[in-house]
Amino acid sequence: MVDKIERLKREKKAIILAHNYQRPEVQDIADFVGDSLELSLCAAQTEAKLIVFCGVKFMAETAAILNPDKKVLIPDGNALCPMAAMLPAEFVRFYRRKYPDAKVVLYINSLAEAKAHCDAVCTSANSAEIINMMDSETVLFGPDSNLACYARGFTDKKVVSIPAYGFCPVHKLFNREDIIRLKDANRDAEVLAHPECNPEIYEVADFVGSTSKMYREALVSNAKKFIVATETGLLHRMRKERSDAVFIPAYEEAVCVNMKLHTLEKIYLSLKNERYRINLPPKIMTQAREAVEFMLRARETLR
Ligand code: 13P
Ligand code: SF4
Repeated sequence: MVDKIERLKREKKAIILAHNYQRPEVQDIADFVGDSLELSLCAAQTEAKLIVFCGVKFMAETAAILNPDKKVLIPDGNALCPMAAMLPAEFVRFYRRKYPDAKVVLYINSLAEAKAHCDAVCTSANSAEIINMMDSETVLFGPDSNLACYARGFTDKKVVSIPAYGFCPVHKLFNREDIIRLKDANRDAEVLAHPECNPEIYEVADFVGSTSKMYREALVSNAKKFIVATETGLLHRMRKERSDAVFIPAYEEAVCVNMKLHTLEKIYLSLKNERYRINLPPKIMTQAREAVEFMLRARETLR
């Protein structure tokens, strides 16, 4: 299967992008593995004509938004993010009417039609930076209320969660007492957490960041043991690069079933039959592109 995928990829001048939560064998075959910000940058810069995106749909949609002239494929069209679905476009319009003076920043984990109604997009790697760039006192932020809470620690702006309690069902699974017990049993371990976790989780962490920030922390840290509070797929990359260290999942069953839908066979069929293509209405593409490009341009100014 790996050989067949490689051959088709060469023939079709395609690129395979994979999120850090993908199955190990999918990460291993990908041309690039990263967090949402890195994948967006990669999608914006690639010269490949065909992009096979192994991640959830909002990620593949972002690649399509940035590449209106390219074919963006997702191997399994059912790979949806439940948190993104918590903020329909009508909600964004409703909150805009309620707070007419506020700017709207949406987490990249949102529907394309919701992004079309926001001022800027952010990822877990840059939420506070993007919020601080808004020229309003109040910023509406969604759909992740935990990421909003995390960002409040780095801004003087009033950050209003839209909806009030949007969340990631996978990151909700972590339990503070379990992590404290793991810490007690592994006193030399560093705790890494994703900001989608409840605040009580990242309060007991030594490091909080996006999946790739957590990965890079594991590469540069002197620790030899890590307790990792995010989806377990990230541990594959960490273990590959730090074979001298031990990585303990903060909860073994923190698995995003949507991320795991892509398999080697589906990637092969996706390349062979050029399916399933991401298709978005042109108006939504254009409006959402402005918000995504704001974030990509901001990255240059923040560098
Ligand atoms: P990252 O951008 O940190 O990779 O997060 C994406 C995601 O879906 C986390 O649940
Ligand atoms: Fe969505 Fe959570 Fe899965 Fe990330 S881990 S894609 S936020 S459901």
